[in-house]
Amino acid sequence: MKNVYVLSAAMSKYGKSPLSARELALEASRKAIEKAGITPSDVQGGFVANAFSLSEKQGHLGPIVMSGLGIPDVPASTIESACSSGASAIREAWINILAGIYDCMLVVGVERVSQLDTITATTYFSFGSDYVFEGACGASFPGLYGSIARAHMTKYGTREEELASVAVKNHDNALKNPNAHLHKKITIDDVMKSPVVASPLKLYDACPFSDGAAAAIICSEEFLKRLNGGKPEGVIKILASGRAGGTGALHQRPDLTTLKAAVLAGREAFKMASLTPKDIDFAEVHDCFTIAELVALEDLGFFPRGEAAKATLEGRTTLKGEIPINPSGGLKAKGHPVGATGVGQVVEVYEQLNHKAGERQVSDARIALTHNVGATGGSCGVHIFSSFD
Ligand SMILES: CC(C)(COP(=O)(O)OP(=O)(O)OC[C@H]1O[C@@H](n2cnc3c(N)ncnc32)[C@H](O)[C@@H]1OP(=O)(O)O)[C@@H](O)C(=O)NCCC(=O)NCCS
Repeated sequence: MKNVYVLSAAMSKYGKSPLSARELALEASRKAIEKAGITPSDVQGGFVANAFSLSEKQGHLGPIVMSGLGIPDVPASTIESACSSGASAIREAWINILAGIYDCMLVVGVERVSQLDTITATTYFSFGSDYVFEGACGASFPGLYGSIARAHMTKYGTREEELASVAVKNHDNALKNPNAHLHKKITIDDVMKSPVVASPLKLYDACPFSDGAAAAIICSEEFLKRLNGGKPEGVIKILASGRAGGTGALHQRPDLTTLKAAVLAGREAFKMASLTPKDIDFAEVHDCFTIAELVALEDLGFFPRGEAAKATLEGRTTLKGEIPINPSGGLKAKGHPVGATGVGQVVEVYEQLNHKAGERQVSDARIALTHNVGATGGSCGVHIFSSFD
């Protein structure tokens, strides 16, 4: 298989933004292009990951982004896979480069929802569930993940304090990330005393509604050779891409404590890279709710079933732990601008593998994994990256 690279990756700050989706997408895209040391005219095609175009009544962002970059003739399509839109867009660019169709592509993920009130945003987000059986019946994402949490607690004895330890860790990491949405130190007690959103999940078990954008330049080996003798500064390698689907609705699943799409996507990625979880130096996983991080760690094989909760409470997934998870702060505290999230995970990997993550740097980071889930597991993308050498 041919080699495919991330030439650069950059993001806007996540949080509540006065900027529109198109402005955020352009900001991140321009930063990524500049960091890559290329010009917009080097970009041959693009994908814009965006899940809730309804929020600004602006679909078809591809041509808008490309026009804003001054390259209106370059084709770009919007990719929508709910919360895994970003990973889907990265994978589509990877496939296009592998197929030899393009040598240099822009992937940009973006979302802007902070102008909506909580009820409207929750309703729009529920369009990403199996709406007939879930959203329309009043089951919001906090409710659906609350059901997953309850099932995990029943099957494995997982405790609310253990869920809370995920939030405490990710808030700690986000304090070291200037681009994170939430900069607030919290304790397990704070989580336990925060208002219940969907039992057993509380305010601090949930990710916030965030605005933001993240972009990456994906390129071929041939393109690299044209730049700086084949080893441009910062470039990292995509070792593997895994993607799988799952049922849209929870009631169609025999077991709520695992997301089959994540198991299958992880398996595909590890096989393609000829690696195992033990080879991964750190991972950015989809912790839209604290329970989601625990399920991810078990689905990907970082911990045996039922053991991720205890491991997290014991500090084994902190920045200095045996397998740092979500050094960026994760969706929980870095934020979750839905379409941007999967690309934003790649930004963290890019910074970490270049040893430019500042205070949150994972020591000796060489191989990293990203895991990006659509809704409650209707889709999942897992990518594995390595530093260039
Ligand atoms: C948890 C949730 C309901 C809170 O929304 P809300 O009650 O409208 O909260 P508000 O926006 O009024 O914020 C109230 C306070 O809590 C904070 N806050 C809001 N959401 C937060 C979160 N998830 N974590 C930590 N703090 C949060 C705000 O910063 C604000 O703090 P302040 O008073 O110090 O300024 C909302 O964030 C939510 O639904 N999150 C999940 C989003 C989701 O489902 N995404 C898709 C996942 S698949």
